[in-house]
Amino acid sequence: MKISVIGAGYLGATHAICMASLGHEVVVVDVDSEKIALLKGGTLPFFEPGLSELLSSVLETKTISFTTDITAISECAINFLCIGTPQNREGIAADLSALERAFDSVLSVAKSDSIIVGKSTVPVGTAQRLARELSNKKSDTTLNWNPEFLREGHAVADTFEPNRIVIGALAPSDARVLADFYRSFSPNTPQFITNFPTAELVKVAANAFLATKISFINAMSEIADATGADVTVLADAIGIDDRIGRKFLGAGIGFGGGCLPKDIRAFLARADELGLGESLAFLQEFDLINQRARSRAVAVALKELGNPKGKKVAILGAAFKPESDDVRDSPALEIAQTLAALGADVVVNDPRALASAAEKVPDLTYEESITQTLQGAELTMLLTEWNEYRSLDPEKVIGLVKTPTLFDGRNVLDVGKWQTAGWKLLALGRSL
Ligand code: UGA
Repeated sequence: MKISVIGAGYLGATHAICMASLGHEVVVVDVDSEKIALLKGGTLPFFEPGLSELLSSVLETKTISFTTDITAISECAINFLCIGTPQNREGIAADLSALERAFDSVLSVAKSDSIIVGKSTVPVGTAQRLARELSNKKSDTTLNWNPEFLREGHAVADTFEPNRIVIGALAPSDARVLADFYRSFSPNTPQFITNFPTAELVKVAANAFLATKISFINAMSEIADATGADVTVLADAIGIDDRIGRKFLGAGIGFGGGCLPKDIRAFLARADELGLGESLAFLQEFDLINQRARSRAVAVALKELGNPKGKKVAILGAAFKPESDDVRDSPALEIAQTLAALGADVVVNDPRALASAAEKVPDLTYEESITQTLQGAELTMLLTEWNEYRSLDPEKVIGLVKTPTLFDGRNVLDVGKWQTAGWKLLALGRSL
C-alpha cells in the first residue's frame, strides 16, 4: 500500500521505516530539511536499537522516500500524522501548533478518498475538533485517531508487535481500512475500535498510570528513607501480587523523557480546561514527587561530599533511560547539571547520549571512556542503568577512583558484591 508519514521524529521515522520494511511504499515528509537529508543518506537523527539496519535495507529496496515536499503524498491511501506535541513554552499544556499546520497541509493535497491517521499524543477533544474541520470543508477524507504506545529502546519490536491497537473514529466502519492494515502484520494484537475521545484518553491515561506507579514507589522510597525500610524489598513484595505487578515499581531518581513528564502536565492542563482539575490533582503531586527524587539524589551527593567545590563526581549516564540517546527532561543530566552548578568537578559518561547531552548542556564535561570518567572520582553516581554500568567489575574499578563511594540512582546493582569489593553504596529508599 502507498502510505505517507508526516513528521520524521522519533515516532514517525520508526513507524515509516518499519512499515517500509514490510513492503509498503512509504513517503516520509518533514519540514526539517537537515533531518530529511540525514535520513536519505541512511543516517538516523537519533539512536534506536535495530532501526539503523532497517533503514539501510529499505533504502536499498527503495520502498521508502524522504522529502520536504508535502505534495509527494498526493497518491497515498493512508497518511500518518506523527507530529510532536511538546509542552507549551508558556505553561504546562501541549503545543498543538505544528500538528495543526501539518493537518492543514496534508488536507490540502491528500487524495479525497484517503485516510488521515493521527498518531500524535493530543489533549482529549482534539480529534473531534479536526473532524469538524473536515466536515466544514466538505472533505471526503476520513480521520482516525490511533495513539502510539512504543517505548524508546524497544521501538522496533513495539511497532511490529504492539501490545494493543487503538483506533478512534466517528463510526466503526471508518476504522476498517486501518484495522486491516494492522491486522496484516500483527494478526494477534488486540484491537480496540472506539470513539475519538476514548482513543485519545487511552494514550494519556496509560502514560499517567505508568507515571503514577513510578511516583508511588518513589513516595514509598521517601517514607523508607525516614523509617529504615528498604523500598526495593517493598517493591518486590507488593509487586508479586499480580493485581499490582512489579513492572514500573523501579524506585530511584524518577522518570524523564519526552513523554511521561509532558503528558501528565498536558493532561492536567486539559482537565483544568474541562473544569475537572480536582480529578487529576493527584498527578500534580506525582509530578512533584518525581522532581523531588532528583533533589533527593543531589542531597545524598552533597551529604557525602561536604563542600562539593572542586571534588570530582563521576556521572554514569546522561540519557533518560538505557538504550536511548534521548536526554529530554533526563533526571541524570539534571542531577549532573545541579552538582556542576554547585561547584563539583562533574564528568559525565554515557554509551550513546554524549552528543545529544553536549548539545543540550554544552558547559558540562563529557568523557567517552568509563575508565577516564571514574579516574580520581570522589563520588560515583550511576544515574542511567545501561548494561555497561551494571556489568562493571567492582573489584577492577575500585582502583580507579579516589573514594570508593557509589550512589546507585536506579537500584540495580548487586549491593553485596560491591560492598564485598570495598565500596560504600548509597541509594534512595534504602540504607545500605
Ligand atoms: C513511555 C511509555 O512507556 C510508552 O508506552 C509510550 O508510548 C511513550 O512513553 C510515549 O508516550 O511515546 P518512554 O518514554 O520510552 O515510554 O519510556 P519508559 O520506558 O516509559 O520510561 C520513562 C521513564 O521512567 C524513564 O526515565 C525511566 O528510567 C523511568 N522509570 C521507568 C523509572 O524510574 N522506574 C521504573 O520502574 C520504570
